[in-house]
Amino acid sequence: VFSAIEMAPRDPILGITEAFNADTNPNKINLGVGVYYDDNGKVPLLACVQKAESILIEQPTPRTYLPIEGLAAYDKAVQELVFGADNAVIQERRAITAQAVGGTGALKLGADFLKRFSPDSEVYISDPSWENHRALFESAGFKVNNYAYYDAATHGVNFPAFLAALKAMPKGAIVVLHACCHNPTGADLTQDQWGQVIDAVVTNGLVPFLDMAYQGFGAGIAEDGAVVRRFTETGVPLLVSNSFSKSFSLYGERVGALSIVASSAEEASRLLSQLKRVIRTNYSNPPVHGGKVVATVLATPELRQLWEEELAAMRVRIKATREAFVQKLKDKAPGHDFDFVREQVGMFSYSGLTKEQVAKLREQSIYAVDTGRICVAALNSKNIDVVVDAIAKVL
Ligand code: LMR
Repeated sequence: VFSAIEMAPRDPILGITEAFNADTNPNKINLGVGVYYDDNGKVPLLACVQKAESILIEQPTPRTYLPIEGLAAYDKAVQELVFGADNAVIQERRAITAQAVGGTGALKLGADFLKRFSPDSEVYISDPSWENHRALFESAGFKVNNYAYYDAATHGVNFPAFLAALKAMPKGAIVVLHACCHNPTGADLTQDQWGQVIDAVVTNGLVPFLDMAYQGFGAGIAEDGAVVRRFTETGVPLLVSNSFSKSFSLYGERVGALSIVASSAEEASRLLSQLKRVIRTNYSNPPVHGGKVVATVLATPELRQLWEEELAAMRVRIKATREAFVQKLKDKAPGHDFDFVREQVGMFSYSGLTKEQVAKLREQSIYAVDTGRICVAALNSKNIDVVVDAIAKVL
């Protein structure tokens, strides 16, 4: 049964981490995976998380099964964060939220759920999109198409082409949108452009699936979530996946959620009953610890305040790093214009480096995604000159 199975290719993002881990050069730098490192090159353990863990240790609880849809306090806190506490979809009990195994797990739940109830729909993802989007929806059984999004010449969004693509999608198509901090390009829409996107989605009867893995890394928590709120105001069916991997630096705890907005409380309860079947047949029910940590932080005013400050500090450091990166490249690679890096939003820069240039960087133990995506949040005051020199050389 196993003899004919071929070797699978390495994952385009996590495979880079595998190669990085295998590299014995002590000065190696990983700009591949989307992980925030502090200026000392360490993944931070947030103070709000440590304080929440102290609280939890003082009140030890047995590790029984959580409900299929996760910890109730977590689901409530997530819903308020994602939609805004005063959102009508919460007051009217039209939104359901289930704890998920990271943002990826939330996308997978949404994909499996949609495949059960809208099996003939096709999925549309941006060109380019997060490397795992296509594989994830294909593995749920969907045909996955690209919609025009990024314009390499301007390093921005080709908005007319994007809008035209939305308008050409068939009714019922599932359109995956990045709520903020577009991964991989860092090219986001303006509020006005979002308005036009929302109009096109509503007019065309599309099913929006908002992926929000980087809330708080763009302009702020509320600002980054604004588009979710705007979608809820239209009354269209809506799916939202979110993640606390980055915003709480809880990568390995796998804490995320899937929220679905229905047209009535009665419909919402039917959706939840079906979503629970999807969860039950995937992994039964989610793990306890990460959800408890996030729920504790979000529901405790001092910890919540601390979290918002810590998240803001990460956001600010990334912005300052973009600035330093642009300035240094101006000195070291004067013939090349990297000003666009300053305008990009979130953790990443779609640097414009080619696959060949990325391969050359790898010879110097600097790891980036083949598409030229680099994680700006992995640059720091100690490694930035090495990276800039290496980029100048490969250019
Ligand atoms: C990334 O894009 O690097 C992150 O979202 C990590 C992942 O799971 O790919």
